[in-house]
Amino acid sequence: MKIMHNYLKTLFISGLIISFLGCDDTITVQDLDNREIPDSNVSYSKDIAPIFELKCVSCHGNGRLDAGLDLTVWSGFVDGRIVVPSVSNNSVLVWTIEGRQGFPPMPPAGSPFLPLTSKQIQGVKTWIDEGAENN
Ligand code: HEC
Repeated sequence: MKIMHNYLKTLFISGLIISFLGCDDTITVQDLDNREIPDSNVSYSKDIAPIFELKCVSCHGNGRLDAGLDLTVWSGFVDGRIVVPSVSNNSVLVWTIEGRQGFPPMPPAGSPFLPLTSKQIQGVKTWIDEGAENN
């Protein structure tokens, strides 16, 4: 009876581990920060959206829309307010991720979310300067 019980317990735990590993397609902030971003032909879906997915959407998406911004969708950027397509230097999005022009730094200082790396900031600027396409 005891052996049987241990057997079932092992089976149950292995099942849990397998289903956990099997479903885990999320990436960590560390994986994301190590990713390369090309110098040109930056892709919104491949290179840019995952950055905001991990570092911004807890406050700007999924039911919580701080400052009225939904950063889970492309249109949330290119609504004429935070991204000026082709002009990264005039885009509020860039001012916030760089914390300049009197805009609050994003993610906010003191929040548990890590700032963008310089590589990611450069990637966002390139994406905007290439037209901020939904590519
Ligand atoms: C912990 C919550 C939180 C996170 C994470 C966060 N924001 Fe914000 N964001 C806010 C709040 C609150 C405001 C509005 C209040 C303010 O201006 O400080 C705001 C405002 C903004 C604004 C509008 C600024 C303006 O004055 O028009 C932009 C753009 C923005 N966030 C972008 C981002 C980006 C990009 C990220 C991720 C890199 C991010 N935020 C992460 C809470 C957050």
